[in-house]
Amino acid sequence: MNLHATYPALSDLRARASRRIPRFVWEYLDSATGAECTKSRNRAKLDEVLMMPSILHGEVTPDLSTTLFGQALPLPFGIAPVGMSGMIWPGAESHLARAAATAGIPYTLSTVATRTPADLKDDLGDHAWFQMYPPRDPDIRTDMLKRARDAGFGVLVLTVDVPVPSRRERQVRSGLTTPPRLTPRLMAQVARCPSWALGIARHGMPRMRLIDEYAGKTSGLPSNKHAGYLLRTAPDWDYLRWLRDAWDGPMIVKGVLDPGDATRVEAEGVDAIWVSNHAGRQFDAAPATIESLPAIRAATGLPIVIDGGFETGLDILRAIALGADFVMLGRPWHYALGALGADGPDHLADILTQDLIANMGQLGLSSLAGARDRLVIGAAGQ
Ligand code: LAC
Repeated sequence: MNLHATYPALSDLRARASRRIPRFVWEYLDSATGAECTKSRNRAKLDEVLMMPSILHGEVTPDLSTTLFGQALPLPFGIAPVGMSGMIWPGAESHLARAAATAGIPYTLSTVATRTPADLKDDLGDHAWFQMYPPRDPDIRTDMLKRARDAGFGVLVLTVDVPVPSRRERQVRSGLTTPPRLTPRLMAQVARCPSWALGIARHGMPRMRLIDEYAGKTSGLPSNKHAGYLLRTAPDWDYLRWLRDAWDGPMIVKGVLDPGDATRVEAEGVDAIWVSNHAGRQFDAAPATIESLPAIRAATGLPIVIDGGFETGLDILRAIALGADFVMLGRPWHYALGALGADGPDHLADILTQDLIANMGQLGLSSLAGARDRLVIGAAGQ
């Protein structure tokens, strides 16, 4: 089957996935917090970034490659961490790690995924990143870093934009609890999605394996707290310093929107800034990531990674034009899995690649570095 004929865009994958993923799981994946203004704003502000097409430039052969941390990457995009990835689609973490290895792009495993770092040892390619929700207990911290390192994860991502849980009202309405409890209502939703249900039967009930293992080993865990208590998701500057010392590879701080914070983070010796508003899942009055980008670019010389509602190759070019070095996507890879199972991520990587090539052709760009010169200045407050 020619997948491009049936599913030419991410929106086609999303539409199919929404029918094949049980409603409560879909709501977890697709929702944000509050009235979802930040989520909408991420999209709206991307649309405002205009670029000038180029004429009479002759033939160009677009080169999509880039470098990050001194390593060559064939494409300027990768896979962002997503919690409970294996609940969204059975086996998601393995499928995504393998698709990333095939494409030569980064895959980021979340602390709260349904697989441990070691589970993915055989699936990882050359660019495996581990996202950390910081554990409170120093022994667990050290052990978690060691396990990530031993399994082949070379880049550490510290998430700093979840100081408290957000309310995520749409998720609550769907009946999803933490940990998930299968009520009759949820069972009825599962019954409508046989591929998902069969996959779960094969892979086992999704749970946060890494965290669960530590919960079993920790004495004195208050009995009324679930395993999430192990994570101190509101780290401070001392915690950042401790972590910087403890990790000897590249380290990224994820969740930066303020240029002043970017400068302070840079001074602590991290290797890259990840501009993110958690895809609108944490705070509903946050600026769009694309509108935060120019000031952060001006404030730091570090490489900038960005996420937040990116859907197309053109969106990726917009971010590069405004100073990003690399673009991460989270939900889209899960829409692809939901639509096409294990083949989905390869197809999405191809959609994004083809869209980059088509738009670089319009802009007359032989390399990503030239994108900046095609910006229509003043269109989105640049
Ligand atoms: C979320 C957490 C897991 O956004 O990062 O759902």
